[in-house]
Amino acid sequence: MYKRSDFPDGFLFGASTAAYQIEGHGFGGAGPTHWDDFAATPGNVVRAEDGAVACDHFHRWPEDLDLIRDGGFDGYRFSASWARVLPEGRGQVNQEGLDFYDKLVDGMLERGIDPMLTLYHWELPSALADQGGWRNRDVAKWFADYAEVLMGRLGDRIWKTATINELWCVSFLSHFMGVHAPGVRDIRATARAMHHVLLAHGTATQALRAMGIDQIGAVCNFTYAQPASKSPEDVEAAATFDDHYNNFFMSGLFHKKYPERIVTAFEKYLPEGWQNDFDVIGTPVDWLGVNYYTREIIAADPGPWPALKSVEGPLPKTQMGWEIYPEGLLHFLRRCHTDFSGDLPLYVTENGMANPDVVVDGAVHDPERIDYLARHFDAAKQAIVEGVPLKGYFVWSLMDNYEWALGYEKRFGLVHVDFDTLKRTPKDSYLALKSALAS
Ligand code: FCB
Repeated sequence: MYKRSDFPDGFLFGASTAAYQIEGHGFGGAGPTHWDDFAATPGNVVRAEDGAVACDHFHRWPEDLDLIRDGGFDGYRFSASWARVLPEGRGQVNQEGLDFYDKLVDGMLERGIDPMLTLYHWELPSALADQGGWRNRDVAKWFADYAEVLMGRLGDRIWKTATINELWCVSFLSHFMGVHAPGVRDIRATARAMHHVLLAHGTATQALRAMGIDQIGAVCNFTYAQPASKSPEDVEAAATFDDHYNNFFMSGLFHKKYPERIVTAFEKYLPEGWQNDFDVIGTPVDWLGVNYYTREIIAADPGPWPALKSVEGPLPKTQMGWEIYPEGLLHFLRRCHTDFSGDLPLYVTENGMANPDVVVDGAVHDPERIDYLARHFDAAKQAIVEGVPLKGYFVWSLMDNYEWALGYEKRFGLVHVDFDTLKRTPKDSYLALKSALAS
């Protein structure tokens, strides 16, 4: 079993959540978001579930912050909902929304928890979706304006700020694969969203810097691309996956260019003048967040770009059907450090697993999660030994929550949530981490 003392002094342990997944979007005057609209459209979300109530964190936040403190965590990565702050995405501020985040941040500080705030974790206000959302270049300015409003209120107390969670999911998963809101499947929309999400990150970073705010970071998600065979076709397919998923955003942020393979595929779809945006996109950040869960086995698939498919792999899988592959975490920590972010501090901003956890006699036994975390902590430790500047680790997630298109069925929490009674029950993994962090 791991111990806090296995990690360097000052290494930070935390738990992660996101606004729409836990707060209860129906409370407190928040405006409609594209996730509400997406969930209300049959076929998009399991049982058409939405985030209207979720974990009711909006009312139960003191209890949730107590769980973070009592677990011995040093930090809490949470997000704010754009539509809770600005119900129409722009203009009129919802004071109740700003007041909520204000109390929440004070609640963290009172409990000795470092607040790491994500400005955008996926719930785009519907009014902005009406204007094309991430397809519209103006989203960069809208996002920066929202960042200013929110940070004008909270900025004096936030420990670290992340702009946009998982640029790949916001753009590719949501505009090419159509799996997440807005559920678009269109290559031109995808190329634009991929570019604009980076532009929005850079524009907001500059706006915050102009307000005197620092400790701003980017958070990307990474999936290890394993070619299904040694055939040149499968190897090329895996390289294409690796480029659109892992390299596109990192290359934009840190090298001010896009991978050749993607430029070739996207040239006619990218917005005019895209080449001129890299000074904004590449605005220096202070840290980088790495979200990592799994690998995919990639095979060539005849057809238009990207001409690939994921095939089932042989390793043990989580409730998501994701293979457990800690080597991938080590790979990406090394790769970020050597190929992209250099000496910038790295944080694992998400890692964890879904498991079909049940409460039995008031306890939840999840040895699978304890093992999953131990193996990924080992990968993190190895990276540190090799000199990767990894400074902290946030487990996804503090508690079971709304797992997007998969509704409430996939349980990622260290704390179990009964979605009928909303009762919280710490799982064995929470208790194991608590004792590890105390040691
Ligand atoms: C990540 C998301 C997070 C959660 C986990 C399981 O992609 O950032 O909200 O859904 O996956």
